[in-house]
Amino acid sequence: MIDTLRSVLRFRRIELDATKRRLARSANVDDLRTIAKRRLPGGVFDYIDGGAEDERTLAANSDAFARRTFQPRVLRDVGEVDPSTTLLGRPLSLPLVLAPTGFTRIADPEGELAVARAAQRANVPYTLSTMATRSIEEVAAVNSGSKWFQVYMWRDRGLVKDLIDRAAHAGYEALVLTVDTTVLGRRERDVRRGFTLPPKIGLDTLIDGVLHPGWTWAFVRSEPIRFANLTGSSASDGNTAVSLAAQVNEQFDPSLSWADVEWMRSVWDGPIVIKGIQTVADARLAADAGVEAIALSNHGGRQLDTAPATLDLVGPCAEAVGDRIEIICDGGVRRGSDIVKAVALGAKACMAGRAYLYGLGAAGERGVDHVLRMFDGDVRRVMALLGATRISDLHRELVD
Ligand SMILES: Cc1cc2nc3c(=O)[nH]c(=O)nc-3n(C[C@H](O)[C@H](O)[C@H](O)COP(=O)(O)O)c2cc1C
Repeated sequence: MIDTLRSVLRFRRIELDATKRRLARSANVDDLRTIAKRRLPGGVFDYIDGGAEDERTLAANSDAFARRTFQPRVLRDVGEVDPSTTLLGRPLSLPLVLAPTGFTRIADPEGELAVARAAQRANVPYTLSTMATRSIEEVAAVNSGSKWFQVYMWRDRGLVKDLIDRAAHAGYEALVLTVDTTVLGRRERDVRRGFTLPPKIGLDTLIDGVLHPGWTWAFVRSEPIRFANLTGSSASDGNTAVSLAAQVNEQFDPSLSWADVEWMRSVWDGPIVIKGIQTVADARLAADAGVEAIALSNHGGRQLDTAPATLDLVGPCAEAVGDRIEIICDGGVRRGSDIVKAVALGAKACMAGRAYLYGLGAAGERGVDHVLRMFDGDVRRVMALLGATRISDLHRELVD
């Protein structure tokens, strides 16, 4: 009996590092989301997790991936699987780009620096937001790999030109023009909580803070959160961040049009990606405008509710313009299998936002590494199970 027991009993070594413990228990992005939900104050978690209005588009983005099934091929010698690809003429280890997310330091004090470092380690591009809480130069100092800069078109084109010049000077390779945010979507979780960015300390925030001491301690010990790219500009008063809503209402330019894409071309030599295309008609116009890529995106369901799920646009857009521009599928990516589905349907790559923010909120920079490692492992495993050894083997017949 003792021998039988000895043969099956295995005690796990007690892990003293709390972050490692947390990561060891996280088998997927959803597990990290659960941990982030526990660790972050409710308002912060909801700002990251939530979507616009009834959150139908937020749900639809994920449902579209769940709805598609694979049609695996077998007996194909998948001894060596290679998920590397190219995007905008540059090699990357995985068909993945980290999406721009404003105010990343709300999830972890290192914020954009942590994400940019993890992206470089995984050899995938990192996109820095205009609304970042670390500056163009600070991020370039920690990431010598592939990085893109996301632009919101401000009323003050001089300020936009300054940002573009700084990005060029700091070695960013592509500009991502976000076009789905002419006005800010109504995120009702934030409305209900009275949540603002930067967070204002009221009684409920104080209680929330006390209930999440780890986050609160890190937050108060680190330097104040600000729109790092706008310091000293006319759009911000520099050291103290103005509120996100005020910034959007005062500075975002609702008159944004195709003429601005032309203007952008005149002030930027590198590739341009238009992010926020949601119809085949606009995909065609983007190709006609001569941009290098589009990100099919509804801002992760944070802008226009009941806009179409992005995965559903991939096939039709690939058919319409796939031979002229590269297509990125952005929204709802939570697993490597999602990336594989989008690529099989005609995307060159996916963008992911919340997936890495959950990792960051759950376990800081190591949490982002964990997410990227899981994506890499997922993509390799799913490709092998589909009978595909290279990205070029992923084609439409593999997905129903
Ligand atoms: C907290 C948060 C902040 C975001 N901030 C920006 C931003 O500043 N600029 C932008 O173009 N998109 C922004 N997005 C949208 C993301 O770039 C991306 O489109 C979206 O997260 C994709 O959906 P997913 O989160 O399901 O991956 C943000 C998304 C989140 C969740």
